[in-house]
Amino acid sequence: MEALLCPVCKSELTKNGNALRCANTHSFDTAKEGYVNLLTGSKSGSLIGDNREMARSRKSFLDKGYFEPAAKAVCRELMTLRPETVLDICCGEGYYTQMIKESCECKVYGFDISKEMVRLAAKRKCGATFFVANMSDIPLEDNSIDCAVHLFAPLCEKEFLRVIKPGGYLISVCPGTDHLWEMKAVLYDTPYKNEELCPEIDGFTAVKTFNSVHTAKLTCREDIDALFKMTPYYYHTSAQDKEKLLTLDSLKTKIDFYIRIYRKD
Ligand SMILES: C[S@@+](CC[C@H](N)C(=O)[O-])C[C@H]1O[C@@H](n2cnc3c(N)ncnc32)[C@H](O)[C@@H]1O
Ligand SMILES: [Zn+2]
Repeated sequence: MEALLCPVCKSELTKNGNALRCANTHSFDTAKEGYVNLLTGSKSGSLIGDNREMARSRKSFLDKGYFEPAAKAVCRELMTLRPETVLDICCGEGYYTQMIKESCECKVYGFDISKEMVRLAAKRKCGATFFVANMSDIPLEDNSIDCAVHLFAPLCEKEFLRVIKPGGYLISVCPGTDHLWEMKAVLYDTPYKNEELCPEIDGFTAVKTFNSVHTAKLTCREDIDALFKMTPYYYHTSAQDKEKLLTLDSLKTKIDFYIRIYRKD
């Protein structure tokens, strides 16, 4: 049986009024949105990770459904695995977590290091359990999760191996070769295709890799800007190149998710 763990002493947390408390009396309040901050340290998640504006912009973009066919492809894979517990690692503002919860009849956990992201995720009231945590120290029991999903985020192999049950699965999503190709073709004179890698993960065997590709039609400048800000290109593009994109009122671009499924040995 999976349970949240105290980030200080690693003993089990149980509900105590409006808080979660361990046997050693470490206590963590439930925020009014319904999530728990289990990140230790003075910053408590408020200054770490994505800020409020980025979180809101990401949520409003994703909620418009531009990535929906690819998100559904991930959910279809999950449904065939029939997990009882799913963990959305680096869940962001909860778009995928909500879709997972609505597709699978199972217990769903989502966490992110950004308090702003988790706050928005919890506000979705989708029935998933959300908490703020660092993926290098996930506050969950060993071997407690049937399937973890991991979209557009860094890997932490050691912790994934620890929390996923033997025979359980990790679904990892990265940008595919053609992801946002047309956006890159506007920005750069010589755009590069993304490199698709299926790295070996110690203790796991890759059992399936495939791409989900569709074309999204962005119909206003605000959405083009929001998508651009969600990408690493936003931070690595000259002001002059950025201008090229921001003169557009619409953009058709490929959305290419490279989906890799691993089974824990
Ligand atoms: C590109 S976003 C992807 C979010 C979500 N999976 C999605 O696809 O919409 C990457 C996320 O990873 C989170 N993140 C980065 N480092 C983290 C860490 N060490 N522990 C937990 N979350 C982390 C960020 O706060 C951010 O929300
Ligand atoms: Zn404790």
